[in-house]
Amino acid sequence: MDKALRRPVIAGNWKMNNTPSQAKALIEEMKPLVAGADCDVVLCVPYIDLYAAMEAAEGSNIKIGAENVHWAEKGAFTGEVSAQMLKEAGVPYVIIGHSERRQYFGETDVTVRNRVRAALDAGLKIILCVGEVLSERKLGITSEVVCAQTEIALAGVKAEELKNIIIAYEPVWAIGTGETATPEQANEVCKIIRDLIARLYGKDEADRFIIQYGGSMNDANAAELLAQYDVDGGLIGGASLKADKFAAIVKAASV
Ligand code: PGA
Repeated sequence: MDKALRRPVIAGNWKMNNTPSQAKALIEEMKPLVAGADCDVVLCVPYIDLYAAMEAAEGSNIKIGAENVHWAEKGAFTGEVSAQMLKEAGVPYVIIGHSERRQYFGETDVTVRNRVRAALDAGLKIILCVGEVLSERKLGITSEVVCAQTEIALAGVKAEELKNIIIAYEPVWAIGTGETATPEQANEVCKIIRDLIARLYGKDEADRFIIQYGGSMNDANAAELLAQYDVDGGLIGGASLKADKFAAIVKAASV
């Protein structure tokens, strides 16, 4: 399999940044800078920004995503948003299992798995985040942690559903810290994930599967990270809040 046959996906994760008017302005600024990119471009934004973002992105190559989704179809879950709601709103992508959800909001491997199921059933495309914390890396159990997170999240997912899933490998110690995994460290774990997909679904599926790296990816380090054989894109936090920085990463993925 030639790496070039996997079309890279560069996704921004705005987290809790940008009001609707700021979202519109930033996307207007980004549109001409990422036009014609030879990769898929996604921006995941706060729920309240979704409509403004989709309106601003209309007719461009920027696709919009949400940052989380609930697993239930509907019900007494104050403050939550269902997969059907996102689908009907016309939102194509959703991030699931981001480490900040896991760290601060009680997300577990099982709730991640349930969200994945709901999002797939609604026809959404998923960016599923996995990654070890620093103490796990120091203990030498990165592979075990990442494989367990991945395998649980994918429990019950059929091979034909994999096309709607991207995995973002995000070492937690590299998120928002300015500390990036080396290209070799990033590739090593992306390859571990690809090998797991091969064991679960076969080599052909694994060869086509998109695996991103995330964790302080920026305009300066993107080219080197994206050049790694098993790194097919990036999930970008801080650098997705600046049009020029995000566009430079998109450009690095387009070569
Ligand atoms: P960062 O965030 O690029 O600011 O490290 C990445 C992420 O949390 O997805």
